[in-house]
Amino acid sequence: MTDETNILAQLEQIQQDALMRLETIQDESDLQAWRTAHLGRSSAIMQVFSGLPEVPKELRPQVGQRANQVKQALETALAERNAVIHQSSLERSLRNERMDVTLPGREPIQGRLHPATQTLRDLYAIFAEMGFQVYRTRDVETDEYNFELLNIPAYHPARDMWDTFYTSTPGVILRTHTSPGQIRVMREYCPDPIRVVLPGMCYRYEQISARSEIQFNQLELMVVGRNITFGDLKGTLNDFARRMFGENARTRLRPSYFPFTEPSAEMDVECFICGGKGCTICKGSGWLEIMGCGMVHPTVLQNGGYDPHEYSGFAAGLGPERIALLRHRIEDIRYFWQNDVRFLEQF
Ligand code: FA5
Repeated sequence: MTDETNILAQLEQIQQDALMRLETIQDESDLQAWRTAHLGRSSAIMQVFSGLPEVPKELRPQVGQRANQVKQALETALAERNAVIHQSSLERSLRNERMDVTLPGREPIQGRLHPATQTLRDLYAIFAEMGFQVYRTRDVETDEYNFELLNIPAYHPARDMWDTFYTSTPGVILRTHTSPGQIRVMREYCPDPIRVVLPGMCYRYEQISARSEIQFNQLELMVVGRNITFGDLKGTLNDFARRMFGENARTRLRPSYFPFTEPSAEMDVECFICGGKGCTICKGSGWLEIMGCGMVHPTVLQNGGYDPHEYSGFAAGLGPERIALLRHRIEDIRYFWQNDVRFLEQF
């Protein structure tokens, strides 16, 4: 075999090998590797070019021309293969990412207000219409505000009415009711008249049951001014009951005892589930207790800065969760704070 046929056969082999490998390539990264191996600086074809000066002079034009043709053929084949691979990857992604625009949309999960918050907001709206402002006070209270200033000195037996969570700091407790807010609001507004609602979470170290939780909301009402009478208390609470439970809601006041009000009472609303006939919800009595209330005790007025000879007032405290139980006929208060979405989603 002559030098000429030898080199030309070698070029033929280079082309065949490269094209054969190219046909097996399926993706872009392998194609890149092929380009480096068969057209890169140290590829066989490039070595033929760099070896040209050693080829006998008379063969050089023919070998050079053939080498150019091989290089050209490889570049063309590369471009074609590239187009095929690109097309098939496009088809694959169109197939995999196919979108059915006729599918019904998925509803985004949306949060909503907790039933206790809903009830609280309904209460705010009612009292706002009746001219009450919202006054917020603290959850962590002192024994002084929660008890002493409300006419409940240490060792007073009435302290048993409020099972208390104490903190490791002496004299600092979690409020057992929203009534300490009475003192705070009076001390801030004195001597102006007051008409506020005081909402907030209360905490009691109590036996948990279907009607009692260790944490629950209360909404306190307080009105202070000159010549406020028990008649104002009764009229205001009756008006509230009708706005809350309907035009025909019937109410009654029963005598009760709270150290910070005198006289004290509890308000019942006629059971709207059985219409007063007696059922399991009202325990057969036909009435549902909704709040404690009374005329602000003179000592408490004085602790708030008001002269009880000139001023008087009334206060009341109700439990929004207990009201929500009645309104939605929920049989257990524990559902409120268990955070089971199956329960919460119903509101
Ligand atoms: C009080 O806490 C008084 N501070 C209310 C008051 C205010 C009277 C102003 C007079 C003047 P009582 O302990 O009854 O009272 O609670 C008031 C309301 O809070 C109850 O009617 C009830 O609706 C709610 N409540 C009390 N304890 C719990 C509990 N463990 N779980 C859920 N709600 C409760």
